[in-house]
Amino acid sequence: MMGKKSNKDGRIKHLDVDGQHDEVYAKVKKLASTIKNMGSEREVFHRLFSLSKYARMHFMEEEKLMFISGYRQHQEHKQQHAEFIRKIGEIKSAYHDDRASQTLPKIVQDTLGKWLRQHIETDDEAFKVWINSGNRQTRSIMIES
Ligand SMILES: [Fe+2]
Ligand SMILES: [Fe+2]
Repeated sequence: MMGKKSNKDGRIKHLDVDGQHDEVYAKVKKLASTIKNMGSEREVFHRLFSLSKYARMHFMEEEKLMFISGYRQHQEHKQQHAEFIRKIGEIKSAYHDDRASQTLPKIVQDTLGKWLRQHIETDDEAFKVWINSGNRQTRSIMIES
C-alpha cells in the first residue's frame, strides 16, 4: 500500500516537473527581452533573481525525485544543474560589465536557452524514461516512515 502511494505521488510530482520546464524557459525569455529592451538595472536584476530562484526550486524537486527513486546518475545530473546556476552568475557579471551590450540578449538565449533545451531533451529525458520503466526503488518509504 505504501508503494502504491509513493508511485502515485511520483507521477504527480513528475507532471509538476514538466510544467516547471515551461516556466524556466519563460523566465529565460523574459530576462533576454528585458535586457534587449533596456529595462532598468533593477528590473534586470529582478529577472535574474527570479530565474535563479525558480531554477533552484525546480532543480531541487528533480533531485529529490532522483534521490528517492534511487537514480544512479543523480550526482552527475546535480552537477549539471549547478552549471546552469553558474551560467546565470556569468550573465549577471556580463551585464554588470556592459549593460548596454547588444550581444547580451543573444548570449542569454544561446547559453541559458540552449543549455536548457539540451539538458531537458537528453538528461531530464533519460531520467523520465528510466523512472517510467519501472526501475525506480521505493526509497521514499524510508523517508516516510
Ligand atoms: Fe529539469
Ligand atoms: Fe535536470
